[in-house]
Amino acid sequence: MAQLEVSDFAQAVIDRMGDCKDARFKLIMTALVKHAHAFAREVDLTPDEWMAGIQFLTATGQKCDERRQEFILLSDTLGMSMLVVALEQARGAKALKDKPGEKPTEATVQGPFFWPGAPKKELGDDIGAGHGEPTLYHGRVTDTFGKPVAHCELDVWSGDDEGFYDMQKGDSMSLRAQFRTDKDGNYRFWSIKPTFYPVPGDGPVGAMLAKMGRHLNRPGHMHMMLNAPGHERLITHIFVNDSPYLDSDAVFGVRNSLIVDFPKHPPGKAPDGREMKQPYYTAKYDFRLVPSA
Ligand code: BEZ
Ligand code: FE
Repeated sequence: MAQLEVSDFAQAVIDRMGDCKDARFKLIMTALVKHAHAFAREVDLTPDEWMAGIQFLTATGQKCDERRQEFILLSDTLGMSMLVVALEQARGAKALKDKPGEKPTEATVQGPFFWPGAPKKELGDDIGAGHGEPTLYHGRVTDTFGKPVAHCELDVWSGDDEGFYDMQKGDSMSLRAQFRTDKDGNYRFWSIKPTFYPVPGDGPVGAMLAKMGRHLNRPGHMHMMLNAPGHERLITHIFVNDSPYLDSDAVFGVRNSLIVDFPKHPPGKAPDGREMKQPYYTAKYDFRLVPSA
């Protein structure tokens, strides 16, 4: 029997997939095997190092439960989540190449703190009272041709003024809600000006980042997920323009087009007519959704 040498193992694994019926799966596994073997050869991986990697992945899985997704955190902090988001958006841009219209709003990572079934609220409601500095979020949702998207579902969520999400603290939802745009595509709601915060660092991913000499922080942001029939779903954030860590987001999620000015206003009548007894911020952002094919 011809014995396999260092340079042969990857091709030998690939050759065993001759009976694979799923062409896309075969393509992905072929590339994965090729690159994984090339990586091991490049660093001249030792058995102890490979075992340390296996133990790390085991610990990553063991850290997961219904509230904690350490594998998503691993994907996020290694830049994979954002790479896949950017690839998807580039694919969409290619499909739109010959169609007139504006560029769609850029997407970014979903992160591990989305909690489906947030309370449904009315436009103008305040979901941030008592949690931080009041901020009026407002703007319009249109498609890439400027047509308003009426009754678009807008799921929003953020951490509190200390950077903690409700699901990190307990069982009850706060600082998250679902709104719907009005018939002209407008939205408005009150929440807080989000602060920068660290991604969870008490698990194997935190240990990995510490060993890499990396910090854990994300710049302040409000998460937004937009769903409307006849349009592609958009998962994105609004980033606070004076936040630290815009240049070194731990999960590489910042897009320049999503960085928004948060002007501060003295007490008085806010643009939605609300009488404010304390200073407040406003954040205006218009979203552009891609019409479904
Ligand atoms: C977040 O923005 O909520 C987040 C994203 C990636 C990892 C951790 C948190
Ligand atoms: Fe977040």
